[in-house]
Amino acid sequence: MQKKLEGKVALITGGTSGIGLAAAKLFHAEGARVIATGRNSATLDAARAVLHPEIELLQSDSGDGAAIAALFAHVGERHGRLDVLFLNAGILRGGTIAAQPEADFDEVFRVNVKGPWLALKAATPLLRRGGAVVLNASINAHLGMAGASAYAASKAAVRSLARTAASELASAGVRVNVLSPGPTDTGIIEKTQPRDQVAAVHASLTERILLKRLGSSEEIARAALFLASDDSSFMTGEEIVVDGGMTRV
Ligand SMILES: NC(=O)c1ccc[n+]([C@@H]2O[C@H](COP(=O)([O-])OP(=O)(O)OC[C@H]3O[C@@H](n4cnc5c(N)ncnc54)[C@H](OP(=O)(O)O)[C@@H]3O)[C@@H](O)[C@H]2O)c1
Repeated sequence: MQKKLEGKVALITGGTSGIGLAAAKLFHAEGARVIATGRNSATLDAARAVLHPEIELLQSDSGDGAAIAALFAHVGERHGRLDVLFLNAGILRGGTIAAQPEADFDEVFRVNVKGPWLALKAATPLLRRGGAVVLNASINAHLGMAGASAYAASKAAVRSLARTAASELASAGVRVNVLSPGPTDTGIIEKTQPRDQVAAVHASLTERILLKRLGSSEEIARAALFLASDDSSFMTGEEIVVDGGMTRV
């Protein structure tokens, strides 16, 4: 059977854990030449140990303009083009508006919003006709969930950015779509919540999900593959919500 990304060059930001790691495995299995980034060297080493050696793992801070320019220059020199761009790197910092430090707001927007903007800017000359960009947002873009103000606002900005990018890249034959996962069992909650609260957070989210479980990274990666491949060839500027029925019913 024809692989869905045969011969395509695919860059995944934040490809060292969770959804990005699952996407790196899946896109490679579907025939893509995959480049994946992460910021943390320990996570990069852990990803290197589990990913196929053909997948190129690079340290690159997605919110750093110089690092992003260097990353895309490298992709240009090595591959000469880009067919798939999965802008997945993102961070969650919780806290009510009253309590959250200003520095958390700045870091969330630097990574989650400025990061994709910088990547789109640097990727534009490399993206080829038939190319696809997928931005990983979140259902939080549409919710007023207490304690998620900076994160939710950043993901609403990602949704907006995708609309503009879809308009700007359409004439070049490049599609831009958004993936909005619901709660997914990637470890992102463990990274941000005190250990003794993780189980309670999981339980309260599960209660709100129609299918009564969190999603898996692989389930989200399959939706990313759909948007990255020609299976979604008549879609641009669109958003797919993958949340087990949490927000759509
Ligand atoms: N899990 C969920 O419930 C959920 C729901 C909706 C949306 N999302 C979104 O899905 C995306 C992936 O999240 P995940 O749950 O898979 O989280 P994760 O397991 O924490 O993975 C995040 C990935 O992004 C990378 N990353 C973070 N900051 C970075 C930076 N400044 N530069 C480069 N890479 C960076 C991480 O690498 P390092 O380890 O090196 O930092 C890691 O590879 C995020 O955009 C998140 O907002 C997740």
